[in-house]
Amino acid sequence: MENKIPTHVAIIMDGNGRWARARGMPRTYGHAEGARRVADVTGAAGELGIKYVTVYAFSTENWSRAEEEVGALMKLFRSYLKTCTKDADENDMRIRVIGDRTRLDPDIQDAISRVEEHTRSYSRVTLTLAINYGGRDELTRAVKKLARDVRSGSLECDEVTPETIGSYLDAPDIPDPDLLIRTCGEQRISNFLLWQLAYTELYFTDVAWPDFGAAELREAVEAYGNRDRRFGGVK
Ligand code: IPE
Ligand code: IPE
Ligand code: MG
Repeated sequence: MENKIPTHVAIIMDGNGRWARARGMPRTYGHAEGARRVADVTGAAGELGIKYVTVYAFSTENWSRAEEEVGALMKLFRSYLKTCTKDADENDMRIRVIGDRTRLDPDIQDAISRVEEHTRSYSRVTLTLAINYGGRDELTRAVKKLARDVRSGSLECDEVTPETIGSYLDAPDIPDPDLLIRTCGEQRISNFLLWQLAYTELYFTDVAWPDFGAAELREAVEAYGNRDRRFGGVK
């Protein structure tokens, strides 16, 4: 039987602010609650046999939010990066980060390196955090590296293929997502994984991220299982 469990699920964790506002609380309360869902959902993903989970935690556009909100999000990354190793140890979970980390505070960059190093050999499930990530930014950085290699002579311009381009992206060894989930009603990509989503199945739910748990993930995976996937061919 065909395996209907997606290998890689990417998630746009949206709606923390609206979820908090509906409870008369500040947006940052929603972010704190949302951060807790990451471990729940990744744990549930591991149990379902999903190998890769990639979550959109902070976009290159999110810097334009109020300083206080950006500061609260950075604080959450700090505390998440401190506590996630325990979860990783217990669940054989590798943690990686995509995005331009050079714009993050040095202590966050150090914490990322430590967590990536500590979990390098774990293989049951890989959780990739997209922090200061933008699909256009990732492609721009890839093109710059590629252009430098052409200039230095280590790459032939005429030999550039889609695979070559893919190899310059932030996590070239991770397969493209099979399923993209976006929570809280909006139906757009918001600059997430532009290259990698070429043939990904899209799933939108009205549930806000802080309310998204194992049951909602199972529902999304079930919907994915009922899709008739095509990659431009005929069946
Ligand atoms: C998603 O929730 C989390 C981040 C973008 C960091 P939002 O903060 O976008 O919440 P809404 O969409 O305003 O409700
Ligand atoms: C996308 O959500 C980014 C993250 C979830 C980190 P946004 O809330 O920032 O996206 P828009 O503004 O609705 O497109
Ligand atoms: Mg949003």
